[in-house]
Amino acid sequence: MVSRSFAFTILAGALAVEAAKNPHTGKAVLERPSLKVGPLGTGKPFPESPAREAGRYCFVKPSCTKGRDDAPKILRAFHDCNNGGTVVLDAEYLIASPLDLTFLEHVDVAISGTIKFSDDIDYWLPRTFKYPFQDSSSMWRFGGKDVNIYGGGVGLIDGNGQAWYDRFASNKTLMRPIALVTDGLYGGSITGLRMINSPSWFNLIANGSDILVSNFDIRVGSTSKNPAKNTDGWDTFRVDNVVIQNSHIDNGDDCVSFKPNSTNVLVQGLECNGSHGISVGSLGQYVEEFDIVENVYVYNISMSNASDGARIKVWPGIQTPFQPSLSGGGGSGYVRNVTYDNYRNQNNDWIIELTQCYGSKNQTLCNMYPANMTISDVVFKNFYGTSSKKYDPKAGTLICSAPDKCNNIRAENITITTPSGANPQWICNNMQNNLLDINCVSS
Ligand SMILES: *[C@@H]1O[C@H](CO)[C@@H](O)[C@H](O)[C@H]1NC(C)=O
Ligand SMILES: *[C@@H]1O[C@H](CO)[C@@H](O)[C@H](O)[C@H]1NC(C)=O
Ligand SMILES: *[C@@H]1O[C@H](CO)[C@@H](O)[C@H](O)[C@H]1NC(C)=O
Ligand SMILES: *[C@@H]1O[C@H](CO)[C@@H](O)[C@H](O)[C@H]1NC(C)=O
Ligand SMILES: *[C@@H]1O[C@H](CO)[C@@H](O)[C@H](O)[C@H]1NC(C)=O
Ligand SMILES: *[C@@H]1O[C@H](CO)[C@@H](O)[C@H](O)[C@H]1NC(C)=O
Ligand SMILES: *[C@@H]1O[C@H](CO)[C@@H](O)[C@H](O)[C@H]1NC(C)=O
Ligand SMILES: *[C@@H]1O[C@H](CO)[C@@H](O)[C@H](O)[C@H]1NC(C)=O
Ligand SMILES: *[C@@H]1O[C@H](CO)[C@@H](O)[C@H](O)[C@H]1NC(C)=O
Ligand SMILES: *[C@@H]1O[C@H](CO)[C@@H](O)[C@H](O)[C@H]1NC(C)=O
Repeated sequence: MVSRSFAFTILAGALAVEAAKNPHTGKAVLERPSLKVGPLGTGKPFPESPAREAGRYCFVKPSCTKGRDDAPKILRAFHDCNNGGTVVLDAEYLIASPLDLTFLEHVDVAISGTIKFSDDIDYWLPRTFKYPFQDSSSMWRFGGKDVNIYGGGVGLIDGNGQAWYDRFASNKTLMRPIALVTDGLYGGSITGLRMINSPSWFNLIANGSDILVSNFDIRVGSTSKNPAKNTDGWDTFRVDNVVIQNSHIDNGDDCVSFKPNSTNVLVQGLECNGSHGISVGSLGQYVEEFDIVENVYVYNISMSNASDGARIKVWPGIQTPFQPSLSGGGGSGYVRNVTYDNYRNQNNDWIIELTQCYGSKNQTLCNMYPANMTISDVVFKNFYGTSSKKYDPKAGTLICSAPDKCNNIRAENITITTPSGANPQWICNNMQNNLLDINCVSS
């Protein structure tokens, strides 16, 4: 059971008598918000984050020369304010060289300004931080212990992705960086930020635990004919005890995606528009690896104009070429104890999609080489709203590659309507149909 109303409150600058100001500009400094996980919790406590030292601020004055790199100054501020201070980023900054902030401890980051990345693609390509998982990369990264990053609803991270979208149109293997990578953060929060136009995924939370993400506003839009691809809202990878809540995401790929070794993750109160849904996976991509996604709860989601609402995607048991920089299959592991509860749907192509044939169009082949991963104890419940015209009267697809690869997958209280008014049909194969309270058809 998910514990209700589990509150963890971070002391909100209790010692500050009057609001602090930037001595150079007179601008008020954002205070750390009081944060709460809720209405559901993960059942695991979050460590407390003590208030930072009163008056210990590190302000960063941006370069007056337009186009100059502010990364070295920002780095210096983090060294100066680490262990008990607050870094204040309240102006317009440009990051034009790699910024490694993985050494942080007991520090807050108040962002009421704008952080924009240079879009000099040829400069960045050899210099980004590179990660083995799905060839990902980034221009900056955060990590350490007990770090609170907050934007008060005004702070903006601008990925400046247009040049990347345009270059990607002619180079499908272009390594586009992720706008914000949290790598090895143990205990912390990232809240109240606006993000626009990431070159690739917006957020990757990797190698950490006990992290609260809240009150984000994420939007993407290409101004050319080249779409902003692969702009996932959040991906989690090798993490435990993470909450993502109360945010708006307008993007063109997964709204949230639970990648390998995501455990005890709670997602609640999101409005996602135009996405590929909230996804477990893809998993089983790498032959030599064992992927685990376990104890995930997704609650109170409003999902609109999406290709999928709730999705579980696993690669087949055989190597599959999918896209120029995305192929795989044959990896093993399991998905266990995942619940999607209370889903408002509006114009979604598949309300639910469960597949073990990710990356392939050939289901026959996938049934010949069943996935090396099992999926069990999954519940989809309290889904309402409408599917799109795309597959009408079909509204969902739950296909396992073999009967023994899926166990105890349930659908309960699903009241979806189709645009045509026809009774929605759901493709169910190799499932225990008696556990699915939906109108199953075989193809
Ligand atoms: C996470 O940890 C793994 C294993 O140490 C490492 O290979 C990877 O670079 C780290 N970061 C990310 C974002 O995956
Ligand atoms: C595409 O971008 C990658 C770097 O991400 C580079 O290695 C490759 O040479 C580029 N391909 C072309 C055809 O320009
Ligand atoms: C995931 O966890 C399993 C079990 O601990 C481990 O064998 C595997 O290497 C981990 N995968 C990654 C990508 O870290
Ligand atoms: C559901 O999430 C929305 C935000 O999308 C929030 O306004 C609402 O209060 C939440 N409802 C419940 C029951 O948690
Ligand atoms: C929602 O997404 C659709 C389709 O991607 C897009 O056309 C529309 O502008 C978005 N609407 C809002 C309100 O964000
Ligand atoms: C399933 O996951 C939920 C969190 O989503 C947790 O509260 C519950 O204890 C888990 N159940 C089992 C049997 O591990
Ligand atoms: C869905 O897309 C339509 C058409 O693009 C748009 O008018 C509508 O606002 C979108 N819905 C939401 C909730 O954003
Ligand atoms: C699907 O895979 C099977 C088995 O390898 C093969 O016989 C069949 O031709 C494939 N179908 C298509 C449409 O490629
Ligand atoms: C993975 O699945 C394939 C096809 O189903 C099977 O031939 C292979 O033995 C499996 N590998 C492992 C490690 O289970
Ligand atoms: C079915 O789902 C709807 C929408 O979430 C909810 O209002 C209703 O209480 C649920 N019914 C039952 C019997 O759980």
